[in-house]
Amino acid sequence: MYVRAQTYLPSKMPAALKPYRDDELRNLRGDDQQGPYEAHDRVYRYDVYHDLGDSRQILGGSKEFPYPRRCRTGRKLSQTNPDRESRLLPLVQSIYVPRDELFGHLKKSDFLGYSLKALVEGIIPAIRTYVDLSPGEFDSFADILKLYEGGIKLPDIPALQEMRKRFPLQLVKDLIPMGGDYLLKPPKPQVIKQDEKAWMTDAEFAREILAGVNPMMITRVTEFPPKSTLDPSQYGDHTSTITEAHIGLSLEGLTVQQAVASNRLYILDHHDHMMPYLVRLNNLDDTFLYATRTLLFLKGDGTLAPVAIELSTPLLEGGLTTAKSTVYTPASTGVEAWIWQLAKAYVCVNDYGYHQLVSHWLNTHAVMEPFIIATNRQLSVTHPVHKLLHPHYRDTMNINSRARELLVSAGGIIELTVFQRKYAMEMSSVTYKDWNFNEQALPDDLIKR
Ligand SMILES: [Fe+2]
Repeated sequence: MYVRAQTYLPSKMPAALKPYRDDELRNLRGDDQQGPYEAHDRVYRYDVYHDLGDSRQILGGSKEFPYPRRCRTGRKLSQTNPDRESRLLPLVQSIYVPRDELFGHLKKSDFLGYSLKALVEGIIPAIRTYVDLSPGEFDSFADILKLYEGGIKLPDIPALQEMRKRFPLQLVKDLIPMGGDYLLKPPKPQVIKQDEKAWMTDAEFAREILAGVNPMMITRVTEFPPKSTLDPSQYGDHTSTITEAHIGLSLEGLTVQQAVASNRLYILDHHDHMMPYLVRLNNLDDTFLYATRTLLFLKGDGTLAPVAIELSTPLLEGGLTTAKSTVYTPASTGVEAWIWQLAKAYVCVNDYGYHQLVSHWLNTHAVMEPFIIATNRQLSVTHPVHKLLHPHYRDTMNINSRARELLVSAGGIIELTVFQRKYAMEMSSVTYKDWNFNEQALPDDLIKR
């Protein structure tokens, strides 16, 4: 029960209230209740991510795959793999979260709306496989623009039938498109409202790195050429192959060292977290990726411009995974202009996957959950710190449990829509090794970068 008005530090708690406070905390900790917990339970206990599916890594509890803890549900273990928790039927059965964390109706329907939208958008590639003459690909930019006009009519294809089988709830049946339906019409992005080719400029590419969906990755260059943190005994030398000759003419008369010294050279570096997985990722069907590094220059007019992109693939030689790299520089005419566009596209693919998995899911959603569990286990609702934190926790555990149900689990929407595919969560766990609580907030995060 909430006593909202009054706060007490434990040492100042009135004696008459103390037994109630102790009782409440014992209940919330539930250390003698193994579960499975029911919808009416209020137990906050920790668990590792061993509930993503039989064939996925257990995340958390190991040096190799560390992860923030999630709320324990106590569900029975999987029959086919007793190291894993059994899965529930998405959207039909709900994953346990403590009762106080549940949404009001409005919020829950919002979330369902969003996941169904993601579901529908997520199956567009699958749909196109059956609609197009060139499977799995957009044929032209006009094809993509058509999405914003809602103009694609669907035949009733196996991918849709399969989706309806997997999510049998009537609500979902109603919302997954049927043959003859038109796809949802997503809003047209601001950048192409006036000019449908505006997204292709270098200025827009650089603007999105600084102010798009993932502004969390760009870093100031402090040494040139950029170095790697990959273990040399396993990977050899992964220092960037970008040289002064590649970028010297793009620096408005500065040398590289002058540009570095005056804080005008920046990098979007997706090399080190991609490289260890590239062999496995490129062995998946229909997948080809590079590890990318993008150098950007802060121009005199205050805008950023990309000046070089390095695309690397792994090269297995002498027991090491070294890199085979090619550097591309901006070009505005001829074949080189299109090759430059493609290089930028490979960068965007890296950045999108990192954004969804690391900046968004891991660093926003997953890392909060242990704080919520700890607060509820250790601080009574009358503790002033509990009162300060509580509004910031609202809905997070519930959304995270829905994500484990539908988005980040094996075969879920994330695996269907990001390049990391079945390695998605595992790759986010490797990135988590470098997560440091003290660097997360502003201004520390900006100062670090
Ligand atoms: Fe979110």
